[in-house]
Amino acid sequence: MNIEEIRKDFPILDSGIIYMDSAATSLTPEPVLDAVLDYYRNYNANVGRGVYKLTQIASQKYEDAHKNVAKFIGTTANELIFTKNTTEGINMVASGIGLKKGDKVVVSLWEHHSNLLPWIRAKKTLGIDLEVVKPNAISEGEAKTQCALETPDFVDAIDKKTKIVAITHVSNALGSILPVKEISKLCAENNALLLVDAAQSAPHLKINVRDMGCDFLAFSGHKMLGPTGIGGLVIKEELMDEMEPLTVGGGAVEDASFTDYSLKQSYEKFESGTPNIAGAVGLSAAVAYLEGIGMEKVKEREEKQGKRIIEGLRELGNVEIYGYGGEAFERGQRIGVVSFNVKGVNPTEVASRLDREASITVRSGHHCCIPLMNYLGLGAEGTVRSSVYLYNTEAEVEKFLELIRKISNS
Ligand code: ALA
Repeated sequence: MNIEEIRKDFPILDSGIIYMDSAATSLTPEPVLDAVLDYYRNYNANVGRGVYKLTQIASQKYEDAHKNVAKFIGTTANELIFTKNTTEGINMVASGIGLKKGDKVVVSLWEHHSNLLPWIRAKKTLGIDLEVVKPNAISEGEAKTQCALETPDFVDAIDKKTKIVAITHVSNALGSILPVKEISKLCAENNALLLVDAAQSAPHLKINVRDMGCDFLAFSGHKMLGPTGIGGLVIKEELMDEMEPLTVGGGAVEDASFTDYSLKQSYEKFESGTPNIAGAVGLSAAVAYLEGIGMEKVKEREEKQGKRIIEGLRELGNVEIYGYGGEAFERGQRIGVVSFNVKGVNPTEVASRLDREASITVRSGHHCCIPLMNYLGLGAEGTVRSSVYLYNTEAEVEKFLELIRKISNS
């Protein structure tokens, strides 16, 4: 992995910014921009709706995008629906699986609002039971700030009444990883469905939907080098028939009269209306880019930088880190996202100073996880969050740590 070559693909970095907010939105490399422009410049037409050459090229490229993105996460084109983003995918599932009064839905303390609000709404409108899994007991020597969640914490919650378990793979606020494969076994034992929010894992880890044992998996393109406004939802093939799509309309129809319609039995059933064609070919180019580097190499690089950030922050006496420590990388329980606070300094002030004094971009605040922040006693002020990706350098990490040291001493 030649970092200098990689950085040339991200000319936005030439402005001198140190971009450490990839958990919110990653930067977009030139091959992805080229793919998007190529669509608009050279084969701009709708898909699946005509016979002329241009639409056939567009349709083929869109089909290929389905195949390439599906393969990247270990599934087939027919199981992958292109969505707007992870939020839309999760909402599709929450509204499509026929939830009814008395069904139980299990989520975790780590959830982003995107994987919480759709279920709270189902509780309010349909009367489902919603259970939030929190750490059962905090063992001796373990700080509450670790927020550790492991398989035993889920055992009591997942039972025969559970219709679906909807959990994040990686916490966007902590960088901590949930053991989804083990949790999938609990789901299978109880005949419960499993939805995985992979917004923060698909960009950073090698994902295999089948190996994970989940029924649904949602992710976003803009966090994995793709354009904004495109994402994916994997729906297990045998569930597609019974699932209601979020929208119905053109493109999804097998037959229609003035009184009834029948829908196609493929991913098209869930993609009514003109899809985001440019976004899909852009996302396809993004996964090709990641595959070209290799997900193992991406992970290794981020781990090294994540470890250094945690180590550097720990050297400062007055910094609190949330989530697991650096040792969790070896246990497969962590990615490079690091959430922390400089004691006595508002996280937004820390983020502003990083930007003002060194053009370092980090997110601050509640990270769309207000209930988790409240559990940690932080309120909406939240934390400072650094999130590195394949284009960050060791020198950038050192510059970031140097400035945090300065802020913590002032
Ligand atoms: N979900 C995105 C984040 O964690 C926006 O920042």
